[in-house]
Amino acid sequence: MDLVVGGGIVGLTIAWRLSRAGRAVTVVDPAPGTGASHAAAGMLAPVSEVTYTEEPLLRLGVASLRRWPSFAAELAADAGLDASTARGGVDLRADGTLDVAFGADDLAALGELADFMEKLGLPVERLTGRECRRLEPMLAPSVRGGLLAPGDAWVDPRRVTAALLAALDRRGVPLVRARVSGLLREGGAVRGVSLDRAPGELRGDGVVLAAGAWSAELADVEVRPVKGQIMRLRSPEPLLRRCVRGTVHGAHVYLVPRGDGELVVGATQEELGFDTRVTAGGLYELLRDARELVPGVTELEVADVVAGLRPGTPDNVPYIGPSGTPGLTLATGHHRGGVLLAPLTAAVLLGEEPELAALCSPSRPRTGPGTGPGATTGTTSGATSGTASGAGPRPGPGSPPSRSWR
Ligand code: GLY
Repeated sequence: MDLVVGGGIVGLTIAWRLSRAGRAVTVVDPAPGTGASHAAAGMLAPVSEVTYTEEPLLRLGVASLRRWPSFAAELAADAGLDASTARGGVDLRADGTLDVAFGADDLAALGELADFMEKLGLPVERLTGRECRRLEPMLAPSVRGGLLAPGDAWVDPRRVTAALLAALDRRGVPLVRARVSGLLREGGAVRGVSLDRAPGELRGDGVVLAAGAWSAELADVEVRPVKGQIMRLRSPEPLLRRCVRGTVHGAHVYLVPRGDGELVVGATQEELGFDTRVTAGGLYELLRDARELVPGVTELEVADVVAGLRPGTPDNVPYIGPSGTPGLTLATGHHRGGVLLAPLTAAVLLGEEPELAALCSPSRPRTGPGTGPGATTGTTSGATSGTASGAGPRPGPGSPPSRSWR
């Protein structure tokens, strides 16, 4: 039997795919689906999220996006969802991402990004401000131009985790609601986990560590928490047709429309350790920038605000595969891409992606986004409190939030 530690979208996906492949599996998590997956916006956007020096991540993201339509259809069927509702039950939408620029500097940066994307052969279209507003009439007249990534998609992660839990339940996969306090080691190998409550421990043939930002508390893996604050606004009529992201004087914001009328506005990127407080400053910056791009957001009702912890790695690429310790497999460090990369993660562990496995192998050569040519630490909104790469210094508590991904 395999033990999967972590009931976020990654852990649940692995458990579901292992079970479908005929393997006995048990999931361990004190509160499945309530961590980073609960806070995530659900962008399946490898093209519009591409970052200088992160081509390996792009390759992984593109491959995983390709898997999403059949993954969602199989999940809906296994979970017993009505595939005709909410786009297959998980609100999967493939209407593309529109990346827009507010100021002259933002437009110049977007132009450079477009050059980079074209050099990589990515399908993007450069648009004028007027063309952007033709696609999204609620955009502000001040939007100067944009970049459409027509192949990008998004999904509702909360629906996905609910569907995964339902699918696992229907397959009879046990879910142990307990916190893992340590790994059981015998003769240099991992043989199970110890728990903070009854039954005290679980033994298995192998342990898959998918505990997100908490993974480093259980194993020797370089993963750190990167806080993201996000808000959900409720709109009687959808304000946007597609996912819109934008740069406002160097600060980044994205707006993701849900099928039920909600609009997700995100997200801060803060290096504050295990801090999940929602702060006035974080929400203020999100709303300030969102309003510059789509003024109508201020009319909307606030439905929910939440902070989650992304599991960041030094090179922003997840660790997927054997850990080097017998019995322990890693599936962690998905940072900004856990939802996008969940199908690929399970596929790599099942040996279905031999060519991509080396890119995310825990034993890959150590590189960082700050090490290559064209490296950037990104820009920040307000003070320079963090870096896009995560390779920079950690600000102390109380530092202003940083939102930067390029
Ligand atoms: N992928 C979006 C985020 O991490 O905020």
